[in-house]
Parts: sequence; C-alpha cells; structure tokens
Amino acid sequence: MAEAPKTEAPKKLSIFDLQAKVAKGEKIFQVTAVDYPTAQLVDRAGIDCILVGDSVGMTTLGYSSTVPVTMDEMIHHAKAISRAVKRAIVVGDLPLGAFHASTADAIDNSMRMVKEGGTDVVKLEGGEDFAPMAEAVVKAGLPVMGHIGLTPQLMSKLGGFKVQGKDATAGAQLLRDAIAMEDAGCFAIVLEAIPDRVAQIITERLEIPTIGIGAGPHCDGQNLVLHDMVGLFDRFTPKFVKKYANCWEVISKALTDFQEDVRKGEFPKAEHSFIMKEDEYQALLKHIAKDK
Ligand code: KIV
Repeated sequence: MAEAPKTEAPKKLSIFDLQAKVAKGEKIFQVTAVDYPTAQLVDRAGIDCILVGDSVGMTTLGYSSTVPVTMDEMIHHAKAISRAVKRAIVVGDLPLGAFHASTADAIDNSMRMVKEGGTDVVKLEGGEDFAPMAEAVVKAGLPVMGHIGLTPQLMSKLGGFKVQGKDATAGAQLLRDAIAMEDAGCFAIVLEAIPDRVAQIITERLEIPTIGIGAGPHCDGQNLVLHDMVGLFDRFTPKFVKKYANCWEVISKALTDFQEDVRKGEFPKAEHSFIMKEDEYQALLKHIAKDK
C-alpha cells in the first residue's frame, strides 16, 4: 500500500530568522491580523510576523482611534490569533496606558501579553522617552519590537494621523528615537509614516531590522494592516496603503445575492436542506393526525 504523504508542520520562526533574512538580502513581511481566520490566512501565506496590532480598535471594534483599546481587548484578540498561528512570529501590541506610567507596568503587561495572549514578543510605540520601558521588558526576558514615527496612540500630541519627521529637526529626532530603541535592546523596529529618505538613513544606521509602514522602499521589511490591504476598512485609506483586493465589495455582493436568492426561492435548495426519509415522514404525519 502506498504510504500516506507526510504533511510536515511548518517550522516556527524566531526573531533570529528575521535577522538572517535581512543578512541574506531578503525582505521581512509583517501583517496586522485581528482574529483566528485572518491569522490563519496570513500565516499560511508565509508572512513572517503577524502583528496583533491595536489598530484592531479601529478595524474591528469600531473605535475612531486606537486610544480607547485596553489590555483585556488586546489579550482577547491575541489569544485567538496565537491559537491560529503555526509558523509566524506573533507580535502583541501594548495599548495606550499599558507601559506609559512605569517600567513595572511595561513588564507586567508584557508578561500578560505573552502568558495570557500567547504572543511570542511584544511591541511598544514610542521613541527616546519610552526606551527605559523597552529596556526593562528586554531585561525581564521578553523580546521587544519598537515603533516610532507616527505612533497613533499619541495622536493628540502629534496633531492627528500625520506624517512625522518631515523637516530636518524632526528627522534627526527620529534617528535619535530609533537609536534609543536599538540601544534599549529591541530586536526590530516599525517605522510608520515617515519620509522614505529618513527611513533609509535609519535603516542604514541601525543593526536591527526596520519594518516600514508608510516609510518607503528602503526598510528591511514592510507592514500592512490586513483590513486595509484587502479593502475591509471603509472609513479612510491612508496614502501608504495598496489595496490588493476589495473584500467590502465581495461581501456586500454576497449579502445582496443572498437576499435575492431567498426572495426568488433559489435558496435554500435540496443540497442545503436535511431530508427526512419517506417512511419516517409518513409515520410523522400519522403521529400528528393521531394527536389532533
Ligand atoms: O496596530 C497596528 O496595526 C500597528 C501597525 C500599523 C504597525 O501598529
């Protein structure tokens, strides 16, 4: 008898695989997912890092920004995503308030993210001011991904969802922020919504990989939010997003077609129905007649 083909479980990636990819001149792929099925899709597509991003507050929970997102909400989503992922590195985002007050908060909430949420590593938004928090978490034993540039949690301070580091002074500050996060021990850093030349300078200056989102082509990797790239977020589309599909249209059409089919009696058909055997049906009719 022919042997059944062996389906090998994919090898789980580690943070060292990211550095190895960059050393070989390959790009890193990171995508923000929100739940079990989207994480399965992203993982099976071969994406290296799945970010349980606090953008889930906007794409999935209906908040107008990421500001209200809580640790409990992040952990709820992280759990579902971690259960789905076999290969990718799962990155858990620490929301606003989870690390801002103290290094102790940063360690406690990072531990919660990894222990309860099941993520492999954590990410935190912020530059020089938050390097001590990143350093404390790294020293406590958990890998940290940094995130500088447009840090949406602090959007009131930044004046909204705006490109950062546009002038020389702001660009120089971004470089200092990036260096501070690398010195704090971060294994990689997200650069969000900054000019491509600033991202290039940072990428050339840092040893750790840079992952851009709206930071041009020179970064070591690229991040997109799944809902943006497949057209499932209809409120606005940032300039840096490329839409690879229009799932909004696909789902809307399916919902219209469903109503049309039901109206026309074209759904459900026999193949969607559970059929009772004729003899059981006749017996049932007799039962009912007797009970009348
Ligand atoms: O929450 C998120 O999806 C993020 C990315 C935009 C980097 O932080």
